[in-house]
Amino acid sequence: MRVKKIKLQNFRSYKTLEVDFGEKNIIVGENTQGKTNLLEAIYMTSVGKSFRSKEPDMVFWGEDHFRIECGVENSHQQKIEYIYEKNVGLKGRKTVKVNGVKKPASALLGGFVSVFFTPDEIDMYFSFPAHRRRHLNVLLSKSDKEYSRELVKYSRVLEQRNAQLKNIAKGIAKESELEIWDGRLAEHGAEIIEKRMSLISKINKKLNSNYRKVAKDEKELVTTYVPSVSTDKKTKDEVWADFLEKLLASRKRDIVTGATNVGPHRDDVVMNLGGRDITTFGSRGEHRSAIVALKLTEVGILKSIIGESPVLLMDDVFSELDEKRRENLVKSFEGQQTIVTTTDLDHIDKDLRNDAVIYKIENSKIRKV
Ligand SMILES: Nc1ncnc2c1ncn2[C@@H]1O[C@H](COP(=O)(O)OP(=O)(O)O)[C@@H](O)[C@H]1O
Ligand SMILES: [Mg+2]
Repeated sequence: MRVKKIKLQNFRSYKTLEVDFGEKNIIVGENTQGKTNLLEAIYMTSVGKSFRSKEPDMVFWGEDHFRIECGVENSHQQKIEYIYEKNVGLKGRKTVKVNGVKKPASALLGGFVSVFFTPDEIDMYFSFPAHRRRHLNVLLSKSDKEYSRELVKYSRVLEQRNAQLKNIAKGIAKESELEIWDGRLAEHGAEIIEKRMSLISKINKKLNSNYRKVAKDEKELVTTYVPSVSTDKKTKDEVWADFLEKLLASRKRDIVTGATNVGPHRDDVVMNLGGRDITTFGSRGEHRSAIVALKLTEVGILKSIIGESPVLLMDDVFSELDEKRRENLVKSFEGQQTIVTTTDLDHIDKDLRNDAVIYKIENSKIRKV
């Protein structure tokens, strides 16, 4: 998988920009010069939305639209266009095209596959369960179309069940009418939970050894899925039955709150380092290393599922690592296209520096050095 070229128009700090990429790429620039914005644009053509904000915030201030065009080379050559027009309709209009054909944004997932590390994500990951769920959802959707479909179905049923709960509270619907929604929710929910748990066990096979590459401490890193149903349930049917039971037990509370309080939309993921929850006890450095290890693990998992190396987008990943760990990290990039950013070329491993195309960004203008 390769990104050949990116063209931007009115995207964040970029009026216009055009960059060609090689196999290894380094983007160097001081803070606030536009490094993260550039990687964000590439990421968006891979996932169909940003990890950090909504489209209206991404339009160059004072302009009415942005346009991202990304030339990708994978098993089927692709041109991806991502256009957002701010003043069309109530929420603006987003248009996504692949090879000139309009597609829903969700169709981008699994086409051009990338893995993106940015320090901005560290705080989000350890602060918000919703972000951790989203991370799982995105990772699974990149490699499993069936998962994306189940997720869409689940969300629809969830909305309908929640509407029904509100109607029951208002006295315009009967409690017995919930049964049909409970059954469907449990059905799609069980699929989602099963796939998430199996992903987590794949992650754990490699997470710790990847952590060793980038962390100084010797503690063991393990991640665990915390589902709303019992973890000791083995088959999908058992998960389904247990989920139904939990929904029934939660029914009174659900009617009062007008929301479904159990299910994969409320599940969580925890990471333990040396047996302690890293969210609560981890240092900034440990959080950073854990996320880098997680990203390296994702690369391996995606590669084995889709049979191609995803593109690695690494935003300012080297600054806090010593020489040995920088070298370890660069070794794990072997065989895949890598785009890294840095504030200082001295932070980059020598081997990578020798192999890479180097770009300098200043004031959202880019030039080869
Ligand atoms: N919609 C926007 N229009 C114009 N500038 C923006 C917009 N959104 C963010 N910026 C600017 O982008 C700059 C940050 O760019 P960023 O890529 O995060 O820098 P860094 O090189 O530090 O990663 C900030 O100066 C910010 O003001
Ligand atoms: Mg940045």
